[in-house]
Amino acid sequence: MAKMTIADIDVTGKKVLMRCDFNVPLDERGVITSDDRILKALPAIRTVLDGGGSLILMSHLGRPKGERNVAMSLTPVARRLSDVLGQEVLFASDCVGPDVRAKASALRQGDVLLLENLRFHKQETLKDKEAAADDQLRGAKDAFARDIAELADVYVCEAFGTAHRDNASMYTVPQMMAGKPRVAGLLLEKEIKFLSDTIANPERPFVAILGGAKVSGKIRVIENLLDKVDAIIIGGGMAYTFFKAQGRSIGKSICEKAFVGQANGLLERAREAGCEVLLPIDTVIAQDFKAHAEHRVISGDIDEGWEGVDIGPQSRALFAQKLQDAKTIVWNGPMGVFELEPFDAGTKAVAEAVAQATANGARTVVGGGDSASAIKQMGLADQVSHISTGGGASLELLEGKRFKCLDILDEKG
Ligand code: 3PG
Ligand code: MG
Repeated sequence: MAKMTIADIDVTGKKVLMRCDFNVPLDERGVITSDDRILKALPAIRTVLDGGGSLILMSHLGRPKGERNVAMSLTPVARRLSDVLGQEVLFASDCVGPDVRAKASALRQGDVLLLENLRFHKQETLKDKEAAADDQLRGAKDAFARDIAELADVYVCEAFGTAHRDNASMYTVPQMMAGKPRVAGLLLEKEIKFLSDTIANPERPFVAILGGAKVSGKIRVIENLLDKVDAIIIGGGMAYTFFKAQGRSIGKSICEKAFVGQANGLLERAREAGCEVLLPIDTVIAQDFKAHAEHRVISGDIDEGWEGVDIGPQSRALFAQKLQDAKTIVWNGPMGVFELEPFDAGTKAVAEAVAQATANGARTVVGGGDSASAIKQMGLADQVSHISTGGGASLELLEGKRFKCLDILDEKG
């Protein structure tokens, strides 16, 4: 990506507005259960503070639908950020209005201010398409964005996890800051480098592993990847739709009937493109969908009343063998119901094979969401090249989509 980053510009004495993705998971008591997204923004935050700037941080949390909701306040994030940064983080009780303006204008070099949840205002998530069809809505989104834009001298996009959304803070705010520096954060730069560049310039063999429950969510990924990769490994719930497409009985396994035809078409196109497709050759089946449910391994049809919950041991070995010589691996989606023991075994075997390939010198990229949770749960997070902080965003990049929040940032050189 030839985009300017926060490391390329002088921020001395400047107020820097940074859009982060602090949409972190909270438990029922409002305690942060993973601060990964906060920690990964620290290098960009420190770059501003060490460079003599002050920071105005903004984010969304959850989907409050345009209304103030204490359960989705960013106050826990302010506290955690303050702990990990080792300095006070000021907090504004809203993201627009007089309190924010006063606090932003009083900022001194090295100060950090976090604004309250952007999505407490409906203008934040108003789609550009809808706004384009209604002058009043367009005006409201623009006015909201202008209020935020006026707080700062520099715009930084660091919210990779939100990069696929046309939220006001992602695109309208930088539009309103035309003429001021608009740059990428360091996490954003890294995510794009690992996801886009890996697909564009892979060392071969290049293997994609796709899993997860639904084939519908992965069709565009398969379409985009089948003429770029050497092989696609398919596991997880989506495999049963492919089994169905091959005329096999799948019992009560998850299946998207509307996509059976498309699954066949994808297999056909992959064949034409010379892309090998590896489907599971055996399956762990259970009658009940719960941990330690009675289960067995089969390699043919699945009986009535039984459902596939994981890939079987022969598939694990086959997939691991394919991954062994890979030089580039992209993984999105678990191989089975990894939340329920012992049906995490297939996902674990693939995670271990990906870690082994990394140790052998492969570049390995794990998409956000479930596969990121799985690899962390298996204690292998530090044994792959990159784990994305974005679920939906990494999937859309794998689909080959462009993000307009990136297009608007300043080019290098
Ligand atoms: C995410 O976690 O998916 C991102 O923060 C984006 O949130 P959203 O899916 O609610 O837009
Ligand atoms: Mg999402």
